[in-house]
Amino acid sequence: MTEIIVVTSGKGGVGKTTTSAAVGTGLALKGHKTVIIDFDVGLRNLDLIMNCERRVVFDFVNVIKGESTLKQALIKDKRVENLYILPASQTRDKDALTVEGVQNILDELKTEFDYIVCDSPAGIEKGAIIAMYFADRAIVVTNPEISSVRDSDRILGILHSKTLRAEQGREPVQENLLLTRYDPERVEKGEMLSVQDVEEILAIPLLGVIPESKAVLRASNQGIPIIHDAESDAGQAYEDAVRRFLGENVEHRFLSAVKKGFFSRMFGGRQ
Ligand SMILES: Nc1ncnc2c1ncn2[C@@H]1O[C@H](COP(=O)(O)OP(=O)(O)OP(=O)(O)O)[C@@H](O)[C@H]1O
Ligand SMILES: [Mg+2]
Repeated sequence: MTEIIVVTSGKGGVGKTTTSAAVGTGLALKGHKTVIIDFDVGLRNLDLIMNCERRVVFDFVNVIKGESTLKQALIKDKRVENLYILPASQTRDKDALTVEGVQNILDELKTEFDYIVCDSPAGIEKGAIIAMYFADRAIVVTNPEISSVRDSDRILGILHSKTLRAEQGREPVQENLLLTRYDPERVEKGEMLSVQDVEEILAIPLLGVIPESKAVLRASNQGIPIIHDAESDAGQAYEDAVRRFLGENVEHRFLSAVKKGFFSRMFGGRQ
């Protein structure tokens, strides 16, 4: 059975695309045939993070409009077997995405893929709503700050009421919290919400905590999903999250500030 996963947040810039690239790659590395769809019409960040922007010829909207086949638009990842990307269109026409058009594409993808990862745009407008509409599972990406948590809460309301599962009265979309850009030092100083604070407010199961890490920007500048960087704390945290997503019981890490030892004081902290 194919699972459709939406990576959503409400608030912009919290790490949805970083997460879509990392989780999609992680699932494919575990042997599951996976496609990541960029729903962010007009922006196209996913193909930069996945380093395939020069290979985009046709996109999501071309397929919806019948200007290309799905096969023509899908881009195979260079590094990982089983991983494909369906890039977003750069059209300014936000109405280019239609529920029927998206449904047709998802139905075709379901015949081939185990996981379909939908990278949602920010906000709660049409693109974000369509990205959520067909989801079986949601990864709600949240930063440890009030505005992000508030917007994630709004997204949970939409997942409960405006998805196909909600309309059909089926089992609700399975929701998971992914807390990203977590900085335990700032949490200890009271400058950011703690994992417990966020869990208490949103009250959905915790999939993982991804630490704030310079390695994330470095990786995205190189067009390498951060999960490939097994040396980095953020890469390891995403790997843990993927394993939990697949049902493994993995203890949470990176929740408390690292006490700097002799070597890290001498040679710089870890990233
Ligand atoms: N764990 C992290 N540590 C440090 N920086 C991060 C982390 N996660 C994401 N970022 C940075 O935050 C910025 C926004 O990330 P990203 O593009 O993934 O967010 P987004 O939610 O998809 O944004 P948008 O709403 O615009 O689509 C990027 O510069 C990214 O490198
Ligand atoms: Mg994005």
